[in-house]
Amino acid sequence: MEMENLDRLFSPQVENTSEKIVEEGLRPKNFSEYVGQRKVIDNIEVMVKSATKRNAHMDHVLLSGPPGLGKTSLAMIIAEELKSELHVISGPAIERKGDLAAVLTNLNPKDVLFIDEIHRMHIAVEEMLYSAMEDFRLDILIGQGAAARTMEINLPPFTLIGATTRSGLLSNPLRDRFMAHLHFGFYSNDELEKIITNNCPKIKLKVSKEATHQIARRSRGTPRMANRVLRRVRDFAVVYDKDVVQLEDIKRPLELLDIDQMGLDAMDRRILSIISDYYGGGPVGIDALCATLGEDRGTIEDVYEPFLLKEGFILRTPRGRMISEKAQKHIDSNKL
Ligand SMILES: Nc1ncnc2c1ncn2[C@@H]1O[C@H](COP(=O)(O)OP(=O)(O)O)[C@@H](O)[C@H]1O
Ligand SMILES: [Mg+2]
Repeated sequence: MEMENLDRLFSPQVENTSEKIVEEGLRPKNFSEYVGQRKVIDNIEVMVKSATKRNAHMDHVLLSGPPGLGKTSLAMIIAEELKSELHVISGPAIERKGDLAAVLTNLNPKDVLFIDEIHRMHIAVEEMLYSAMEDFRLDILIGQGAAARTMEINLPPFTLIGATTRSGLLSNPLRDRFMAHLHFGFYSNDELEKIITNNCPKIKLKVSKEATHQIARRSRGTPRMANRVLRRVRDFAVVYDKDVVQLEDIKRPLELLDIDQMGLDAMDRRILSIISDYYGGGPVGIDALCATLGEDRGTIEDVYEPFLLKEGFILRTPRGRMISEKAQKHIDSNKL
């Protein structure tokens, strides 16, 4: 088989390099550092222990939920706990079957293959995964027409961890091949406070209890966001020589990040005001809404909507999205 440079398949964890470096530093390294998601962790711990005891590969698992909630971090911890090598690739980056074949045939027994954004894989490539997951076998078609024949390649038993922002977009055959489906929910303020408190020493920062509480409240239930705010707060603390960051010291960084009292950012507020101003509060179909916003539907549905829905700012009805009374009040008070 043609071997080529596979580097382009391996996804950056986050687009922004400086953020990536900080994320690496703040990533939980083991189960005890991993805050929250109790149900997910309980499931995974048993699966890891069982695989270790059986001296076998762990079953394939699908991790789903909005961005920034700890899917990639958990995949890293799983590989670490299994003492297996982790291979990270991004679903949409695998353009040809040969690309996936190259990755799969390079695995060692019990390795962990993490496929991020697995719902965005090309269908031909995805179909190749079915036998790879189920029987650790690749069926490759060689030649054309009458001379065509299938070649079987045996693969080492491996663990596939798939991550997706929306499990609903996964095809049934692919979904069925995952032995465990684990869903990530937003973090409580207490959990975010704990993450912030754990991370402060790592970036040499002291934050008062009140300020910690406030950062948690403004982080839309998302650890990645909490870390982003924390990093900005740290910059201010350094510039203005604050030994211990107090409540009033986080006002300016939050303003600059454009995060309001409710933890909504500029895009969240744009979504709400467009539903309110253009569509009289709704209902408005998601496609019309995205066209007005000039944003990709996937981004709106995966990144913004889950939090707005969870907090009851928007409502989903059969006829489209509607803005809630709570959201309307919030927009009106911001306009004043
Ligand atoms: N359970 C957690 N405990 C502590 N920190 C977390 C947790 N989940 C996520 N984080 C932090 O948030 C960042 C983003 O998480 P990540 O695993 O990349 O999310 P996802 O892959 O779901 O988008 C991580 O670098 C880490 O610092
Ligand atoms: Mg990720």
